[in-house]
Amino acid sequence: MSAESQAKIILDGKEHAFPVITGTESEKAIDVRKLRNETGYITYDDGYGNTGSCQSQISFIDGEKGILRHRGIPIEQLAERSTFLCTAYLIIYGELPKAAELDKFRAKIAAASNLHEDFRHHFQGFPPSSHPMAVQSSMLSALGCYYPKMSSNDREQDLEYFDDAAALLISKVRTIAAMTYRMRKGLPFNYPRRDLRYVENFLHLMFTEPYAEYVPSPEVSKALDLFFLLHADHEQNCSTSTVRMVASGGANLFASVAAGVSALWGPLHGGANSAVVRMLEQIHASGDDGSQFIEDAKNGKARLMGFGHRVYKNYDPRAKIFGKAAESVMKALGLDDPLLDIARKLEQAALSDDYFVERKLYPNVDFYSGIVLKAIGIPTDMFTVMFAIGRMPGWIANWKEVAETSKRIHRPRQIYIGPNQRDYVSLDKRG
Ligand code: ACO
Repeated sequence: MSAESQAKIILDGKEHAFPVITGTESEKAIDVRKLRNETGYITYDDGYGNTGSCQSQISFIDGEKGILRHRGIPIEQLAERSTFLCTAYLIIYGELPKAAELDKFRAKIAAASNLHEDFRHHFQGFPPSSHPMAVQSSMLSALGCYYPKMSSNDREQDLEYFDDAAALLISKVRTIAAMTYRMRKGLPFNYPRRDLRYVENFLHLMFTEPYAEYVPSPEVSKALDLFFLLHADHEQNCSTSTVRMVASGGANLFASVAAGVSALWGPLHGGANSAVVRMLEQIHASGDDGSQFIEDAKNGKARLMGFGHRVYKNYDPRAKIFGKAAESVMKALGLDDPLLDIARKLEQAALSDDYFVERKLYPNVDFYSGIVLKAIGIPTDMFTVMFAIGRMPGWIANWKEVAETSKRIHRPRQIYIGPNQRDYVSLDKRG
């Protein structure tokens, strides 16, 4: 970052100069940190579309060009040559791991995969109708109670135990997700296996039965690993900003990522992947090939889920990668899902329609991911939990960055537009 030029603002006839700072990818920002002290004014930016809330070394997005890089490495290269855990290490620690470092990281994650037996009682406390995201958020909070040394809310101490806490969360978020699945179906819980790798272990925890071991095909394992990898981090999105916000108050890693899960749940964020499949199913059931739905989306009667992005005004690079993966995993599984055909038709129609072209609305990562998850056998209402498993490294890396570098609590201001001062009226006089 460098500060070379200045931006000048004239307020009430007086000129004020503020430094312009430039990021390593030439992103420019006006540094207004002294604005309020010097002028009494604040900036107003509903939804933070023009606000840099932090300086970060983790991920870079150029939404206009459709670029995503983690620690400088393009997502396309990671998708092609890396794995989820190797990418997780890169995102959290800043460098690709050497072979011994990766082995150690994997071993730590494998060793942490089981849950304390008491968790069975926690699961019993939830009704089978519980949404998996509600369970996941609660369980991650509860998890901190089992590791008080790692979740002390004393920054120095929490950082001292960071490596253990990070591996533990990456591992157990997956065990919790699988146990939630089995609890809701009334199936016996499975224990994790030390001999299986991350994704295979997750699929075993989900689908092995006492009478039938689940052995995934290599295509399924590869597609799921890619799904997690593509979701591993994404700059200052809604849930990551939430994690940073919670961390800025000094809260421990467990509490911060539990808040991230809640933030991810909404249909405009992580909830979009299940909304896409519900949308495709509705289109299919109505006999539409997608054309009517496109018209409804243009007329504001419907929203084309999995399309559009706050930052990408070009193709989301993750959607391109996963669109291809969807094709090959369906082929490998011998599946012919009509929803994939509808998705392709919607994509083609939208990409050539003025409404979508003018607004720069392209498929985002969620557009094809739901179809792949469905093919693997993941129930629709678990899709967002799958996203949370993938996003865990990004949340952890952002928590670490805040804990190591930020001393200030995040505390935005507001423009108050409510009533001016008025007197309290006693109950008998309120009419
Ligand atoms: N379908 C139809 N029209 C759309 C869509 C869509 N998916 N997305 C945006 N638009 C339209 C808006 O109606 C608006 O039109 P107008 O200018 O005529 O009023 C214009 O495009 C701009 O849209 P905004 O809502 O201002 O875009 P914003 O950046 O605020 O929202 C968002 C981005 C929330 C992702 C939006 O595109 C959307 O709702 N998409 C569908 C949900 C989705 O897929 N979310 C996943 C995002 S990726 C992720 O979190 C992993």
